[in-house]
Amino acid sequence: MQIESVNILGIETSCDETAAAVVADGRVVKSSVVASQSKLHEKYGGVVPEIASRAHIEKIYPVIAEAIEQASIDKDDIDAIAVANQPGLTVALIVGVTAAKTLAFAWRRPLIAIDHLHAHIQSAFFTEDKLKLPAVALIVSGGHTSLYDYHSPLQPKLLGFTIDDAAGEAFDKVATILKLPYPGGPAIENAAKDGDAGAIKFPRSMLGPESLDFSFSGIKTAVLYHCRGQDMKGQNKVDSMSARQIADIAASFQAAVVDVLVEKTSRAVDKIGAETVLLGGGVAANNKLRTALQKMCNLTTPAKKLLVAPKQYCTDNAVMVASLAYHKYNAGLFADLTLEPKAHSQ
Ligand code: KG4
Ligand code: ZN
Repeated sequence: MQIESVNILGIETSCDETAAAVVADGRVVKSSVVASQSKLHEKYGGVVPEIASRAHIEKIYPVIAEAIEQASIDKDDIDAIAVANQPGLTVALIVGVTAAKTLAFAWRRPLIAIDHLHAHIQSAFFTEDKLKLPAVALIVSGGHTSLYDYHSPLQPKLLGFTIDDAAGEAFDKVATILKLPYPGGPAIENAAKDGDAGAIKFPRSMLGPESLDFSFSGIKTAVLYHCRGQDMKGQNKVDSMSARQIADIAASFQAAVVDVLVEKTSRAVDKIGAETVLLGGGVAANNKLRTALQKMCNLTTPAKKLLVAPKQYCTDNAVMVASLAYHKYNAGLFADLTLEPKAHSQ
């Protein structure tokens, strides 16, 4: 007898990606469609909420229709609709939430509310058979930098978060200072390839010996001072810098951010006696971060297993939403049609 699988349609609109996916049993990706708006926000060097909202409205139904078509299933075979309803830009989240509620009502299917950051954790291991717990999850994105004590998919416990800029935001802002394209993360990683990571000693803000919180606004300011002179009276000298000088700044900045992320993760591992480290979020696509975390995990006694989200699921996507929703589906944790978007995790 063949056991029927549970097909969940996931919807994601928390920032500047309109995404929909169909995932069976939390791990078999039947389709994944992502419409990125990065070209629309490029000239502003960051996401403009109103532009994001309008683009989501235009894309949401075509993206959902494409996800269902790619999955080669009938809409009647979809068992539940899941949507990221927090945290994020409220004007962006509301588009996905409204679409999900409409479909849940029209198709008479349960609605599942998903925390976007918890979904990023899920993206690190959803294809793994066994996960050794407890785990520390480091989620590094454009809007968030958070460490979690992960015991179960339903209740990750927040251990630390950024008190100012997120790591990805620092990459984006430093890219603007260096006049590199948006989004800044990939542009800085690329520029840093030819640079010397030891060329400039940018600050590593640790916030005390035990803190698991992050602060990245200082390093961003340090890069600005470096480019304009200590008194900040000079013009940004980037235009007159050689490619090698820019590469050195990019590499030194990247190394400082990676050092902080690795040190804080190492502290969290010690604190909770973690067996595994999970890495997700847009900045998890960064190769230097992946390598440095792997090294930290290998050197810890006993060694820890590092699980990193596949690159296509590091940045925002709906596979992670549908995958996490499977656990909520099995636990009977459904939302109703009064579901609202929330800017912050509740
Ligand atoms: O998770 P995500 O797609 O969106 C949010 O939830 O915020 O993350 C986007 C962030 C951007 O700040 C982008 O610059 C950063 O991830 N990013 C990277 C890399 N690829 C994307 N940062 C560093 N290195 C990368 N290769
Ligand atoms: Zn994200």
